[in-house]
Amino acid sequence: MSDALLTGRVALVTGAAQGIGKAIAEVLVQRGARVVLADPGTGIDGSGADPKLVEAVAKKIGDGAAAFGDSIATPSGAAAAVDLAVRRFGGLDIVVNNAAILRDAFIFKLEPRDWEAVLRTNLTGAALVTAAAAAVLRDNAKANRGATPYGWGRIVNIGSTAGFYGNFGQVSYASAKAGLLGLTRVTALDMSRSGVTANLVAPFAATRVTETIKPQNDAQAQYKARALSVSPKHVANFVAFLCSPAAQKISGQVFGIRAREVFLFQQPRPVARIVNGAGEWTNDDLAAAVQQSFAANFTPLTTDLESFSSEPIV
Ligand SMILES: NC(=O)c1ccc[n+]([C@@H]2O[C@H](COP(=O)([O-])OP(=O)(O)OC[C@H]3O[C@@H](n4cnc5c(N)ncnc54)[C@H](O)[C@@H]3O)[C@@H](O)[C@H]2O)c1
Repeated sequence: MSDALLTGRVALVTGAAQGIGKAIAEVLVQRGARVVLADPGTGIDGSGADPKLVEAVAKKIGDGAAAFGDSIATPSGAAAAVDLAVRRFGGLDIVVNNAAILRDAFIFKLEPRDWEAVLRTNLTGAALVTAAAAAVLRDNAKANRGATPYGWGRIVNIGSTAGFYGNFGQVSYASAKAGLLGLTRVTALDMSRSGVTANLVAPFAATRVTETIKPQNDAQAQYKARALSVSPKHVANFVAFLCSPAAQKISGQVFGIRAREVFLFQQPRPVARIVNGAGEWTNDDLAAAVQQSFAANFTPLTTDLESFSSEPIV
């Protein structure tokens, strides 16, 4: 494996003090990048703070790493994290939006405060970091940073299959993760002229979050047991590939990583069509047409935990 593919590149990884973000930061440094690890060290629900956690991780990684111990989920925090990369390492080429929190509740018990906290960290934070970084990445392109033509720059958003399938009691988390698809697509479009790619990766890995899953049924119990055998290293390796020169033409795509399996996900596109001949549909007409042309293509109401409860290939 060519290890130095990212030499000279600078990355910002949010939520990098532990779990998947930490594994991503470590692999990017192994491939030659210098990395800002942004993480205030919160609990899984976003409460509390322990910035010493990210400082210790950055210190252990060594000279190629710098710690940012504030939240990225405010405009000033997002801008400061980007600034740190530019000041400390002289630029920014790669952004991995990985920070996330969980506050689960059924839709009929939703607390607006929890919804707002989850959306702010998991979706708004990613948008704020991307917006702050986009200005630097566009300037890079204009200045041909690193190569002529520059044609380079990477954004990877860490999503979740919960955002595609949904999951009981995860309305805020799933909504935020689904929102990352729109963020990824529009970023990919808006940044294409600057040679910057944006992709969405739905990971599966053993982290403190997987450990706390409280199975509600057999499928979830099986999912948890199997997820706990999956190292975050696989996710990190794929993210590093997306950040490499070899992935220059891959943008606006959705991937899933579960141990040694990598999935390419379809994105919502029309799969069937009915057309009203003339006048307005009656309810009976619609009922018949929907049944005839759509019913066979309806998406089953299965959760991501059920859909990925098979044995991972570790
Ligand atoms: N573990 C899995 O199997 C799995 C499955 C699906 C999706 N994901 C996604 O992968 C990513 C990483 O998950 P993980 O399992 O490693 O979680 P984790 O809880 O171990 O790590 C998340 C990190 O984000 C940090 N964080 C929280 N709020 C922040 C903020 N405002 N600014 C910066 N950092 C903040 C936390 O302090 C924590 O260190 C998340 O986006 C998560 O939704 C994980």
